[in-house]
Amino acid sequence: MKNTQDFIKNNQQRFLDELFELLRIPSVSADPAHNDDVKKGAELVAQHLTEAGADKVEICATAGHPIVYGEKIINPDLPTVLVYGHYDVQPADPIELWDSPAFEPVIKKTEIHPNGAIFARGACDDKGQVFMHIKAFEAMNKSNEMPCNVKFMIEGEEEVGSENLGVFIKENTEKLAADIILVSDTGIISNDNPSITTGLRGLSYVEVEVTGPNRDLHSGLYGGSVANPINVLSNMISQLQDDKHKITIPGFYDNVEILSAEERAEMARAPYDEEEYKSSIAIKEVQGEEGYTTRERGSIRPTLDVNGIWGGYIGEGAKTVLPSKAFAKISMRLVPHQTPEEITAKFKDYFESIAPDSVTVKVNPHHGGLPAVTPIDSNGYKAASNAMEKTFGKKPVPLRSGGSIPIVALFEQVLGLKTVLMGFGLNSDAIHSPNEHYGLFNFYKGIETIPYFFEEFTKLNK
Ligand code: BES
Ligand code: MN
Ligand code: MN
Repeated sequence: MKNTQDFIKNNQQRFLDELFELLRIPSVSADPAHNDDVKKGAELVAQHLTEAGADKVEICATAGHPIVYGEKIINPDLPTVLVYGHYDVQPADPIELWDSPAFEPVIKKTEIHPNGAIFARGACDDKGQVFMHIKAFEAMNKSNEMPCNVKFMIEGEEEVGSENLGVFIKENTEKLAADIILVSDTGIISNDNPSITTGLRGLSYVEVEVTGPNRDLHSGLYGGSVANPINVLSNMISQLQDDKHKITIPGFYDNVEILSAEERAEMARAPYDEEEYKSSIAIKEVQGEEGYTTRERGSIRPTLDVNGIWGGYIGEGAKTVLPSKAFAKISMRLVPHQTPEEITAKFKDYFESIAPDSVTVKVNPHHGGLPAVTPIDSNGYKAASNAMEKTFGKKPVPLRSGGSIPIVALFEQVLGLKTVLMGFGLNSDAIHSPNEHYGLFNFYKGIETIPYFFEEFTKLNK
């Protein structure tokens, strides 16, 4: 990989300029006003795959946003790595909290990134990380050092639940035949402490609507004698967890995987500093389910969080009103062996059962996803571990993450393929938040590491 690594060093600035161009496209999948931008994002990814040397590149239409597919088959007898990622991004809101515009990438230094970080929506999640793969591929290919075959599947709907990708993989099992799926859409513990993600939580997401009177009422004339839907909703939400932070939905924990003491001890060995954790997000104290550490609460245990709540008057000044309706968006992160169908049904039954007769409630399920656990004894994991050890100078530790990539469970179910989650982001990169960024160190470390993954994986599969 000598020539590949030289190629990377000699093209660093160009790689960055090209990524900036991709980051300037506001490919927000959730907002139909950005449909054309999402399409432009797909076209630019396809163009880069072609220029990097893929010999078959397609923009595959779906019922939603397109999927970019590309491949380079050098020899059918060699292993095939299927790279998955997403070019869609989360909305930039609240835009007023960005220090520089979300879709005008700039390099700024931070305490954690003294050599600079790229600030833009999608810099880390996931355009920056997808781009590492395209550039690593270009470098291997143009240096005639491709050790095996590669396929790319870069989607535009990850941030909205990957529903059409689920359809796509079911319809294209042959086209997607491979030996391993490689994903860079997660993170490492820190730049000095590399890690490989071995678990993702699932997701059940619902929107609830509480209706009281048939119209907004004068809160003086009616207040006190008519149920206020916002008061009722707040009260119902408070009943979803007890004072030990256990979720009270009957049967919620029925199928939760219980880890052995050894597994928990192994997890606890990963470097972690709770003081730093707290100060990095400016909180005085952590909180969570009794009997579990912060790390465990955020990875091997399920959760319930209100993501948004609204109703009534929220404009300037005061308006005395008893609103007709109140709403909330609620997410539950799931762990093996919970399923979104099971948990959504249990949530709905319980939420309806605790509603007082003074209101009516509706529970509308959104997208969901299954949790996933990836093995540490597979060739894929070993290849990633060896590759990272080479470039970080330190063996990465396995670690389960709290985030979700719902399609990973389907990769195994539909394609029968294991996934390796070799991401390079940091928790402090502010993904989904204002001022999302991605360290230049991380971007280039990813490009440097990926070719070694290909090399190691090919070696291990001979
Ligand atoms: N890349 C993230 C997931 C992630 C980030 C996993 C960091 C582990 C570490 C992904 O783009 C994401 O945001 N997923 C969503 C789920 C989706 C259904 C909207 C999530 O986790 O909220
Ligand atoms: Mn992502
Ligand atoms: Mn995301």
